[in-house]
Amino acid sequence: MSNRYLEGPFAPVKEEVTALDLPVTGSLPADLEGRYLRIGPNPLGVEDPTAHFWALGAGMVHGVRIRDGRAEWYRNRWVRSTEVADALDKLRDGEEPPGFILPSPNVHVIGHAGRTLALVEAGGLTHELGYELDTVGPCPMGATPEGFSANAHSKVDPRTGDLHSLAYLMGQPFAQHIVTDPAGTVTRVTDIPLAGEETPFLHDFALSQNYVIVFDIPLVFSMEAVPFRWNPAHQARVGVLPRTGGEVRWLPVDPFFVSHTLNAYDDGSTITVDLIRSAGPMDVTDPGGIEPTLDRWTIDLAAGTVDQRRVDDRPQDFPRVNDAFASLPHRFGYSAVSPLYGTPFTPDGPHPDEAFTNALVKHDLVSGTTEVHGFARDAAVGEAAFAANPSGGGEEDDGYLMAYVADPDRGASDLVILSAQDFTGPPVARVHLPVRVPLGFHGNWIPDA
Ligand SMILES: [Fe+2]
Repeated sequence: MSNRYLEGPFAPVKEEVTALDLPVTGSLPADLEGRYLRIGPNPLGVEDPTAHFWALGAGMVHGVRIRDGRAEWYRNRWVRSTEVADALDKLRDGEEPPGFILPSPNVHVIGHAGRTLALVEAGGLTHELGYELDTVGPCPMGATPEGFSANAHSKVDPRTGDLHSLAYLMGQPFAQHIVTDPAGTVTRVTDIPLAGEETPFLHDFALSQNYVIVFDIPLVFSMEAVPFRWNPAHQARVGVLPRTGGEVRWLPVDPFFVSHTLNAYDDGSTITVDLIRSAGPMDVTDPGGIEPTLDRWTIDLAAGTVDQRRVDDRPQDFPRVNDAFASLPHRFGYSAVSPLYGTPFTPDGPHPDEAFTNALVKHDLVSGTTEVHGFARDAAVGEAAFAANPSGGGEEDDGYLMAYVADPDRGASDLVILSAQDFTGPPVARVHLPVRVPLGFHGNWIPDA
């Protein structure tokens, strides 16, 4: 039996590739200098396709290095944790590698404290990568003596440069908010007590100027249905923790599933959180069964209420903001429509004016409008990361969106670079890679400076 995460745009690739001086359509901005990196699971072996789900599998990072208006290289490399290195040795020796390598650094890749870090969660070790994506080794940055380490969706405060993490471990009755300074030293750890026997899936959180916002959802780690199950008896809650530590305040809400947050900000008493939310129950082996939407939650700390409002009802995920505005008031957000979730955008679908199956969406959350950049019908686009215009004045949407887009006509992928201000216009540049990049998880533009 097949599995959607092993086929089509998700199908893993078999080789590590190095390609130099890549062809470009359009023109790369001459002042962009750095790397666009994105990571995702790329299984080495699968014992039982029916039991496979997306997050299983060795992490592989795909990167393009840009300088002086040229795309100097593309590289893809497995992140060689001990388990992945052993599995690669087995493959090389003609043996069958293990099907499950969990947890493997396969969720996010960021730059912090001058290092390139591949991240996972739930106790998996952060790994440091070299500039050309070779694995340096495990990196203790953001780790605590209790065995917690920086989670995949750690967020950098653009004002202080501090890295904020919400870390959790299966079976532990508490999570931790960990602050790591720009030099890589942990400067604050706050324990966050959790309720119930089963640890909730705390994949993402939100950070505002003054608060850490935690989403305690009914999707829990379980020994009954490894690794997750939807527990209807688990009270869904939103937790609000002052950034400076202290007690978390929990506000009960109806059962829901949150995959990712776009951003959050507050004025001291009211917190605004934009997030990708869907109703439960959620089957993690079949996320296609849910339709996540972009919602805005307003947390009124004086009244103790959470107001929930739909912003955009089209199925979407992988929301990103210009990270210079992370935890600060934002106007714009970007998200992806991919074959991962729910109803695709089709002529016969719920939005007949949008005749494509794959798109990036730009949200103007002040005017309440959206712009859509559609790709070819059979293309596959994932998360787009925002790269600020290095010569710009710091306006929120003065920059570029970067994403890998599988081009079905070529049987390979392009790194597509869109202007954030001319979002529906033709791409600024398409860097043509020699191979396909499977749909994956998260990444960043990491400037050299
Ligand atoms: Fe994620």
